[in-house]
Amino acid sequence: MAALGGMGNMRIEITENGPCRVTGDVPQSDQVIATDSQSQSARWRQGQEYETSGEYGQCRCGQSGNTPFCDGAHEQARSDGTEVATQAPYLAMPTSRTDRD
Ligand code: FES
Repeated sequence: MAALGGMGNMRIEITENGPCRVTGDVPQSDQVIATDSQSQSARWRQGQEYETSGEYGQCRCGQSGNTPFCDGAHEQARSDGTEVATQAPYLAMPTSRTDRD
């Protein structure tokens, strides 16, 4: 199990071939890519917020029927936990205050 880190009592740990184990009342929500008038990706906007208990498993296999939470489907999917998603940002970070306004 590898620890991603934490703030205060908040902690996220990667379990072997399973979910991220999230503890310490970490909020869970979606972030949605919003588009501009030319349908180009422009910014993130707040999406659905999920009610959580103090501890939960966050799916990282993509097979859960209850995303973003783990429902145990990774065991049938035989996920090996290998990270395959790109780490490249979807949107460029703002470079000045004007870019954020
Ligand atoms: S990690 Fe458990 S269902 Fe995806």
